[in-house]
Amino acid sequence: MLRIGPVQLATNLLLAPIAGYCDLAFRTICREFGGVGLACTDLLSPQGLLRGTATSLDLAKTNDFDKPVGMQLYGSDPEIMAAGARWAVEHGATVVDINMGCPVDKVTKKDGGSKLLTDLSRAVSIAQRVVNELERCPLDCAEWMRRIGSGGVPPKSGPVPLTCKMRLCWHTADYESGNACSPHLARMLADVGVAAVTVHGRTTEMKFSGEVSRPGIARVVDAIGGRIPVIGNGDVREPADAVRMFRETGCDGVMIGRGALSTPWLFRDCWEVLSGNPCPAPPTIHEQVAMIRRFFDLMRTYRDDHYALFQINRRVSWFAKPLQRRLDDGKMEGIKPFKEAVRNARTPSAVYEALDRFDSGGLRGGFGAWEAESAAA
Ligand SMILES: Cc1cc2nc3c(=O)[nH]c(=O)nc-3n(C[C@H](O)[C@H](O)[C@H](O)COP(=O)(O)O)c2cc1C
Repeated sequence: MLRIGPVQLATNLLLAPIAGYCDLAFRTICREFGGVGLACTDLLSPQGLLRGTATSLDLAKTNDFDKPVGMQLYGSDPEIMAAGARWAVEHGATVVDINMGCPVDKVTKKDGGSKLLTDLSRAVSIAQRVVNELERCPLDCAEWMRRIGSGGVPPKSGPVPLTCKMRLCWHTADYESGNACSPHLARMLADVGVAAVTVHGRTTEMKFSGEVSRPGIARVVDAIGGRIPVIGNGDVREPADAVRMFRETGCDGVMIGRGALSTPWLFRDCWEVLSGNPCPAPPTIHEQVAMIRRFFDLMRTYRDDHYALFQINRRVSWFAKPLQRRLDDGKMEGIKPFKEAVRNARTPSAVYEALDRFDSGGLRGGFGAWEAESAAA
């Protein structure tokens, strides 16, 4: 079973941070399906948290059901990162994570994210400073009980653990010539008290293209030699991929990102299969529609109607992917008008109407027909 520092997780499956997607509402629906050992916030700016910027505070939102939760920080200044880590501990983090893998210019131009893979001494000094800060603000037993969630085992007392999420290295040529920095970096991070590392098996230059390299992750596992857990990440879209990640890398946990965006029940499925059970049947169409409704309701509760509409407009295509597969038996004409209706919805009631009509088969005549009908009514 996967243990991160003092935190015993209920499963060895983790929900990845995906900026703009893995918010509290989405983490909640993944957890409701089951199988999530740990979920992480999207990357957070420590400066934003410390200044109390509305966007950062929204991104850092959590609650008692959303446990255990990692809060991911990005940046390059050890003091600011340490202050951000303390903020995270004071605001509900079960684990603090440092982003050492983001390839986006906005982050790397300020020496954060995967830019740290080009300056290992800075990466390690940030981690060391954050570990020291976390040791100065330990949680007591009662607080650990709140942070651990239902499936986990609470530690007695002590500091929140630090994890780091990295890529194989920056340059693909370095990886190909056997000079990826990740095995070396992972060892140095373990030396300064980092409790686990996650490795996305791509280089920075690859961004999200090409195939994930499981041998690259296996090299980090070998280098660490069991001192701390290594979590493998990349391209897990079905239970067989998770099985392969464990088998081919020897990793201790698997982190799943994009695969969960269309299939939030993927953790449940992976966990059942990894436990030797058959893969459960997918949710029915009715249950999937209920899940989309639940996501929208939670977004309205945790954020506001405007943001909830923005999110449901852009995410309906992801959610509709498994519906499309279910409807491939000839009744597919309902999907397109459904997606169009939700994408074009400008009020919550328009979203609910589209969901109701799709659920009852009422969008099969096409979006145009529905619009004409609605206009006539
Ligand atoms: C749109 C997008 C946003 C992402 N945001 C983050 C982030 O905030 N922090 C992070 O560590 N990784 C981030 N990632 C990387 C994912 O966590 C993950 O490492 C990557 O997508 C590979 O895993 P997957 O194939 O399971 O998605 C992001 C990926 C995407 C596609």
